Amino acid sequence: MKKVLQNKKSLKGETEILGDKSISHRAIILGSIAEGTTIIKGILKADDCISTINCFKNLGIKIVEYDSTVIIYGNGLYGLKKPNNTLYVGNSGTTIRLMTGILVNQRFSSKITGDVSILKRPMERIIQPLTLMGANIDSNNNFAPLKIKGTSNILNSITYEMPISSAQVKSSILLSSLYAKGVTNIIEKFKSRNHTEIMLKYFGGNIKITNNIIQSSNVKTLKAKEIEIFGDISSACFIIVGALITPNSHIIIKNVGVNPTRIGFLDILLKMGAYIKFLNIRNINGEEVSDIEVKSSKLKAYNIFGNIIPRMIDEIPLFVLVASLSDGISIVKDAQELKFKESNRIKTVVTEFNKIGCDITETFDGFIINGNRKLIGNECYSHNDHRIAMCIVIASLVCDEPIVLNDYECIKISFPNFFEVLENLII
Ligand code: S3P
Repeated sequence: MKKVLQNKKSLKGETEILGDKSISHRAIILGSIAEGTTIIKGILKADDCISTINCFKNLGIKIVEYDSTVIIYGNGLYGLKKPNNTLYVGNSGTTIRLMTGILVNQRFSSKITGDVSILKRPMERIIQPLTLMGANIDSNNNFAPLKIKGTSNILNSITYEMPISSAQVKSSILLSSLYAKGVTNIIEKFKSRNHTEIMLKYFGGNIKITNNIIQSSNVKTLKAKEIEIFGDISSACFIIVGALITPNSHIIIKNVGVNPTRIGFLDILLKMGAYIKFLNIRNINGEEVSDIEVKSSKLKAYNIFGNIIPRMIDEIPLFVLVASLSDGISIVKDAQELKFKESNRIKTVVTEFNKIGCDITETFDGFIINGNRKLIGNECYSHNDHRIAMCIVIASLVCDEPIVLNDYECIKISFPNFFEVLENLII
């Protein structure tokens, strides 16, 4: 489906954002292997999280869904049942990678796969450490479908130095460590999002973190919990950028997660000159939460590389858009992981953003971005990547001419009410 975007306006008012996607996945997963009734409030009911719910239903877990509340009747670490058919994760990399960490420890065999984008995303990154633990995974040359052989053995713990910074890989190993003998050590060069560590502690996991080393050992049980999920900062960032780049904008986004491992992009925006204020900072289930105030701002170029990259990995396309509208030349380095997201985001960002007047050069691990661009109308494609689609919509807010966006329905993967939230703020 295509949409004509013609929005040159300002954003004003207060809004809320639906629940955090990463945290919603983890709550469903831990609730399903905990013992007892887990109540999740504010869960994100978007395609990716629905895929995780459906996978656990297929594994015999009773899950009752009301609007944004989900009740999970967990049966403990070994309470899953052999699924009747192949587990299907849709578009969700988090689902396939995290669930595999659990499935390799089950007594039954299973098969897990996803949509065409999932079939192109690398799985070697989880197959390698899980195999070191003793898992038996057959793949299509390190791509999905993954066939996971059941085992009656207890897997081994490992000490694993992460070759890439990835919360999905780290979480897959951590979930497997719940079952393994001894203590698993994960060493991270650059810290990735730590929601699994925080939630495991909350559910009673044995987890200890010293600097960049995470130690986790097996548990007899995880205890069911009540969890409240707050707004997804990655979704909020689209609205934040909308307010920053349009004239006379002033918004407040209520109740958003501001875990330090997730707000690298906001740290950079502040350095670029953005008016962003964190109000009413509080703690919910071990996670930092805040209201965020944003006003239109004149921004200057900035270079990003090294340890900031994993802290803003999903926001780099947005950074490239902001940099294109800022004063000066910005460079992004060390971001080769973008090639393995829902689309190859180095290619899709350059192709689609340059069509609408940006001046971005692709490099092997990022971009060189000329700033001060004036955006122009054109026909764009989402490449079925929700974050690319939302970037184009936000770009249209400062474009004099209409932009036609094809295949925008993928936005529902992570932010099903994106247009509603945006349109309610537009004046
Ligand atoms: C996620 C981790 C990140 C991120 C993805 C969600 C998670 O992926 O890009 O959108 O929930 O753990 P990587 O671990 O591959 O960097």
